[in-house]
Amino acid sequence: GNRTFTMLKPDAIENGHMGKILDMIIGAGFTIKAMKLTRLTEEQAKKFYEVHKERPFYGELVEYMTSGPIVAAILEKDNAVADFRTLIGATDPAEAAEGTIRKNYAESKGRNAVHGSDSDENAEIESNFHFSANEIV
Ligand code: GTP
Ligand code: MG
Repeated sequence: GNRTFTMLKPDAIENGHMGKILDMIIGAGFTIKAMKLTRLTEEQAKKFYEVHKERPFYGELVEYMTSGPIVAAILEKDNAVADFRTLIGATDPAEAAEGTIRKNYAESKGRNAVHGSDSDENAEIESNFHFSANEIV
């Protein structure tokens, strides 16, 4: 697949890292196909992270993801899903490789600056969750 879906999470926006993260994404060869600044409702956050609803951190995750604005975007590049997961680094910034977005900008395993889809199928589902066809350039 050549597309993935990302969100710059509330901590990244709040900490003033939006521009630097977008610069890393573009510098790594991704093209932005759609992008918006928005704020998730509780209902949207619960649905987006439904796969984690039995996990102990689900409530905290929903609260965090609705705590402020996010930037949602669709990104295009060969091998987009895997290459973007490499660019963002491990979920926990303490385990993220040097030069990754989470190593540079994440606060913690929970407040970890950025989301990246984990499969082509989920990239499609997540893109459609946030964007309609006429919002994709
Ligand atoms: P995403 O790209 O956001 O999906 O991250 P991921 O694929 O690296 O991690 P995963 O899908 O397992 O978890 C989704 C999100 O839940 C993470 O990005 C974190 O924001 C949050 N999360 C995961 N594990 C923990 C945890 O142990 N504690 C807390 N507070 N949050 C967690
Ligand atoms: Mg995930």
